[in-house]
This record gives sequence, structure tokens and C-alpha cells, in this order.
Amino acid sequence: MKKIKTQVGIIGAGPAGLLLAQMLYNRGIESVILESRDRAYVRARLRAGVQEQNTVDTFIKEGVGEKLQKNSMVHKGIYLHFNNEKHYLNVEELTGGKVVTVYGQQQVTCDMIDIREANGLPLLFEAKANKITDLREKNSQIHFTHEGEKKVLECDFIAGCDGFHGISRKHIPKKIQQTFQRTFPYAWFGILAEAPPACHEVIYAHSDRGFALQSMRGPNLSRLYLQVPNNEDINQWTADAFFDEFDKRVGAGYQVNRGELINRGLAPMKSFVSEPLRYGNLFLSGDAAHIVPPTGAKGMNLAIADVKILGEAFNRYYKDQDDDLLNRYSEICLRRIWKVERFSWWCTTTTHIAPRQTKFDTKMQLATLSYLVDSKVGGHSFAENYVGLSFREQF
Ligand code: APR
Ligand code: PHB
Repeated sequence: MKKIKTQVGIIGAGPAGLLLAQMLYNRGIESVILESRDRAYVRARLRAGVQEQNTVDTFIKEGVGEKLQKNSMVHKGIYLHFNNEKHYLNVEELTGGKVVTVYGQQQVTCDMIDIREANGLPLLFEAKANKITDLREKNSQIHFTHEGEKKVLECDFIAGCDGFHGISRKHIPKKIQQTFQRTFPYAWFGILAEAPPACHEVIYAHSDRGFALQSMRGPNLSRLYLQVPNNEDINQWTADAFFDEFDKRVGAGYQVNRGELINRGLAPMKSFVSEPLRYGNLFLSGDAAHIVPPTGAKGMNLAIADVKILGEAFNRYYKDQDDDLLNRYSEICLRRIWKVERFSWWCTTTTHIAPRQTKFDTKMQLATLSYLVDSKVGGHSFAENYVGLSFREQF
């Protein structure tokens, strides 16, 4: 059986795996990325679009932010629509200058793939990791299938960046693993339409008919979402039915710009955390360890925050033989993960209409939203979470 060796074996070529590989390359540390899907599939995946300042700064610092800087849109605030009213939360003012950036996860993933391949660095597509062994030994192995052959990647460390459905998390022994989850009784029906967004910044809309969100993927690409039941048949919707419903939910005189639907999808909504993030030589990052409902736009940002710490931890190990940050990795990440899980859960339960929700529940949601827009303290609390919480330590 063919065996290859490296310092850090990375499972998964999503944002977490690709950024970690780039960080390691910038610090002279070898890595190999194993990605189960083919290149076209990974490059075509339509995902989230709002990036925290910390995420953008990290991409730029690691040399993968050039196209982002040229093609992204900076948002200084968000619109909250409720009770048929429109309210603006000036996030930049509320946080003393922090903003968010709209640039699709799909684009940044493609940018990192292009850079990895331009540098001639190992990124194996259609290379499915099947098993991980010897996690408590000096060297660990990733057993994978590639080009019809069974192969082994031998490495000092393994980064499990293989997402919620990957294999890494399953290799943490049940006797030390705890998982926490909540599945929401609704989903997001998302579309991409060839039409300029009617509002230049993101709109979060609460309505008795259900939640709606207006975002974008460029000046002529609208990214729109409607809350729907988990089992919704999204293919029975015509474009006009979607746009009509969207206008009703956003209200306050808003009129969506209509255009051809070039993508539609149904996204389930779930909160999930697996503790700890480390077992022996295995370190989990991103969706492999946690997922959030999309409402707060935190999924990729949380993945990048994990990787920023893991990349620095590997750097200190290889450069200074200092394993302190590796040993504290799980504890440091979890402290931030749980705060972001809370924010994402709160954004979701405050804006979405749950089945059998009472009139009192709805009044509580509206009172919360009113508090955000009427109170500087309330607005600031939302804004500091939205732009991204600071780390307790500087990395
Ligand atoms: N072997 C190799 N690759 C695998 C395996 C496996 N056994 N299992 C999964 N993968 C790959 C997937 O095909 C995917 O490309 O791992 C990658 C994981 O990427 P993501 O799911 O994007 O996870 P992550 O990098 O943590 O980024 C999180 O992506 O899913 C969104 O909403 C999520 O925005 C968040 C972000
Ligand atoms: C998106 O652009 O896909 C998006 C924006 C804001 C959110 C969630 C998703 O809160």
C-alpha cells in the first residue's frame, strides 16, 4: 500500500482545511490536504457570505485576501424589519469602527484552492479519508482511497477539517466525548437571483408569516432566504411566488428586485457542539466540531477562528518546541464557540416563527427587537457579536 508522509495531515478542503494549510505553508510547515469530493463540486458549493473583521484580517495576513479586497462589499450596518417598520442598526458606530464584509465563502474557497495549486502544494481531490489510526503514537495515519487505490498518509498531527458529516469527530472515544445539539423546527429556502439587491445592506425581517433575509453575492446578484417547514418542497415554488412572499414578509414598503433564479436550496437549521476538540494527535476545526444555524452568519467565521488558533499552535510547536497552545487549543476554542453558538441560537429564536408559537412568544420577540433598536446598550451588544467577538488572548 502506497504511503506518503507529511507533518500535518488535513482532512477536508473547506475554508478550515484550506486556510490551515496556507497558514502552515507560510510558516514552513508541510501539510497534505485530502478532499473526498472532486474539484468542480468543491468550487461550486454555494455557502454563506458575511465575514467578520477578524476573518478578513486573517485572510489578508495569510496572503489569500487579494481578490476579497478587490471584489467584496463592506457593510457598516444591518436593517431590522418588524411590525411593518424598517430600522437601521449602525454597527460601525455601535462598535467604534468595526464592520462586516460580504464576500461569498464559495469565492474565498476558490481563491485558496487557486493559490494552493499555483504554489504546487499537495491538495488531493477525490481522496476520501476512511479511517484514522495511532492517534496516541508519535506518528498517526490517515487511511484514504485515491485514484482507486488504498493509501496511507503518515503525519505528526491530523487536522479534522472535514465538516459535520466527516469522519474525524467519530475518532474521538465516546468515553471522553460529549455532544450538545438542538435541531430547529424549520429550515431556510435560499435562492440566488440575477437582480441587484433592492437594499445595499443585509435585511433581517421578522413577520407573522415567517423570517426572511436579504443578502447579496455582488452588485447584480441577490441572495434571498425564506423560513419554511423542514420538509418544504422548494421545487414547487415559482420565482414570482418566492418574490411575492418575500415582499410580504419584509414589508415596510420594500420591493424586491426580481430576476432569474440561478440557484435554489434548502438548508436545515441546527446547533451542535462536540467536546473536546482534541484527542491525541487529532485536532478538530470548524464544522467537524460545531455547527450553528445560519442566521448570524457565523459558520465560516467560527471555523476561521478555530484555525487561526490551531495554525499558531502548530507554529509554536515546530518553531519553538512549545506545545502549550496545542494543549490549550480545545479550551480556548470552546470558550468562543459557546458564545457564538448562543448568539446564533438567539438570532434564530428571536426572528423565526416556531410552529405553535403563542401570541405571547411573538410579543417577546418584538419587544427584544424593539430593545435592540431603541437602546444603545442593546444595539451594542448585538453589534459586538455580529462583527465578531475578540479573543481573550492575542494570537
Ligand atoms: N475525507 C476527505 N474529505 C472529507 C471527508 C472525508 N472522509 N468528509 C468530508 N470531507 C470534506 C467535505 O467534502 C468538505 O469539502 O471536508 C470538507 C469540509 O468543509 P466544510 O463542510 O465547508 O467545513 P469547514 O471547512 O469547517 O467550513 C465551515 O462551511 O459548511 C459550511 O456553513 C459551514 O460556513 C461553514 C463552513
Ligand atoms: C448570506 O449572505 O448568505 C447571509 C448573510 C447574513 C446572514 C446569513 C447568511 O445572517
